[in-house]
Amino acid sequence: MRTPSAKGQVVLVTGAANGIGAAAAELAIARGHRVLLTDVDEKAVLARAGELGPRATGLVLDIRSTEDWSRAFDVAEAAFGAVDVLVNNAGITHTGHARDLSPQQHRDIVEINLLGTINGVCTAVERMTARGRGHIINVCSMTAFLPLPGYATYCGTKYGVRAFHHSVAIEERDGPLDFTIIHPPSTRTDMLAREMADPACAITFAEKSYAPERIARAVVDAIAGKPVEVVFPPLAGRVQRIAGVFPRLMRRVIPLAEARGRRQREGLLSAPRHRT
Ligand SMILES: NC(=O)c1ccc[n+]([C@@H]2O[C@H](COP(=O)([O-])OP(=O)(O)OC[C@H]3O[C@@H](n4cnc5c(N)ncnc54)[C@H](O)[C@@H]3O)[C@@H](O)[C@H]2O)c1
Repeated sequence: MRTPSAKGQVVLVTGAANGIGAAAAELAIARGHRVLLTDVDEKAVLARAGELGPRATGLVLDIRSTEDWSRAFDVAEAAFGAVDVLVNNAGITHTGHARDLSPQQHRDIVEINLLGTINGVCTAVERMTARGRGHIINVCSMTAFLPLPGYATYCGTKYGVRAFHHSVAIEERDGPLDFTIIHPPSTRTDMLAREMADPACAITFAEKSYAPERIARAVVDAIAGKPVEVVFPPLAGRVQRIAGVFPRLMRRVIPLAEARGRRQREGLLSAPRHRT
């Protein structure tokens, strides 16, 4: 497969201290880009950036804060030049059924996954349009297509991110910006480890999980290839996308997948050294 080769871009990655964001930052640097790694966890992101050499720098950015977003674009510009690519990746979940989450937990998920992502897109649209180019890559989720038990508010935010993303891309169609949205499936990060600890999230183990480096490859390839939307796995992901349109089908099929997820989760937990 051809590897896209656009080099030397200035890339701002959110949620870059861990998981998919950290893997994307590392691969982007290996491909010749300069990367501002940002995260709400200041200590972890500075440490991560410190490991990646002179084409990386780290900064605290809580994606809920519009002030933090403005500062991040300024810091990137001072360090490397204006931001060419935003990888809007940071996100959280609180595991459990909707009835078991506190109002604050529901609010956290919405404020980070949806409003935080909106803050990033709006800042990037303004800054990038002013300089006449830029590329916004939103890391969303396959749950943007398929509502899952154990993820109600999370799924709600990811549906929202997808709708927002495509609405803005259409609004800006005559402008100079590119828009890509990428939907990871289960990915072996700290987020998945937390889901493994909660039986309410069993459905996520119905299908095989991916290494964060695989999703990072899709993200960094997108810098050059500029796909409109990427789903995982390429074929089954398209089927899931269609299944999500039909509520009666979902109500039949998702409980079957959940039962399979429960069995697979039990198997993983009882393995000598369980790998999620
Ligand atoms: N892991 C999966 O199975 C999976 C599946 C589909 C989609 N995703 C999505 O991929 C993205 C990355 O997930 P991950 O699995 O790498 O998660 P992760 O928990 O490993 O890493 C997320 C990072 O985001 C940071 N973060 C949390 N709140 C933040 C905030 N307010 N501002 C800035 N940074 C903040 C955390 O400190 C952490 O470093 C998320 O948007 C997630 O929803 C993950």
